[in-house]
Amino acid sequence: MVNISNLWHYLALQSPLHSTTLSGDSFNITTMGLTTYTLPALPYAYDALEPHISAQIMELHHSKHHQAYVTNLNKALESHAAALAANDVAAQIALQQAIKFNGGGHINHSLFWKNLAPTGSEETRPDAAKELVAAIEKTWGSFDSFKKAFSATLLSLQGSGWGWLVKEAGNGGGLRIVTTKDQDPVVGGDVPIFGVDMWEHAYYLQYLNGKAAYVENIWNVINWETAEARFSGRSDEKTEL
Ligand SMILES: [Fe+2]
Repeated sequence: MVNISNLWHYLALQSPLHSTTLSGDSFNITTMGLTTYTLPALPYAYDALEPHISAQIMELHHSKHHQAYVTNLNKALESHAAALAANDVAAQIALQQAIKFNGGGHINHSLFWKNLAPTGSEETRPDAAKELVAAIEKTWGSFDSFKKAFSATLLSLQGSGWGWLVKEAGNGGGLRIVTTKDQDPVVGGDVPIFGVDMWEHAYYLQYLNGKAAYVENIWNVINWETAEARFSGRSDEKTEL
């Protein structure tokens, strides 16, 4: 199974050798061997997550923030290609952080949009994730205990970052709650089942300093169908990432 959590693997799979992309409705353009990334379309309308996440937040978050990660990833990769051609190792090293930050931002947000679903849709019911919920109950004792633990982890994050439920690469594929700082993606072979963006841009316009209310409400729009597919390895993302 392809590991969807590894940044470099992800980038490599979007190379000219691969025709599939992160999202079925996005596409990449290859020019002179350099892949140009594009913003994947949101799989629902900007107002689909209301009242839990406002249309204004979704539009800015997707069309401005995510777009900026894509734009800056392309710029960094272009500069890196020039540095490689010029055999300028110092410039190549200097670009690593920009590639990691913007590449991570592109990966994290692409995963995030897909692990959310319109308010009231079938996908938002944990019933859509029977295998995953069984594993969650086995790990945390109950679904509510898991939600409490996950929410507490999100609220304990300092600064900007993400909270994730992951299926571990080791430990028999067990479930674990992890956080990543800034735009660091999940790495090390762990499979992100779903993630929650805890950057202020994800909630501040609507919730202001009420971070706890954002965390409480995000549970209403988690896409359990996507989560189940990632958990079981049946996600079509495995051929795309
Ligand atoms: Fe974000």
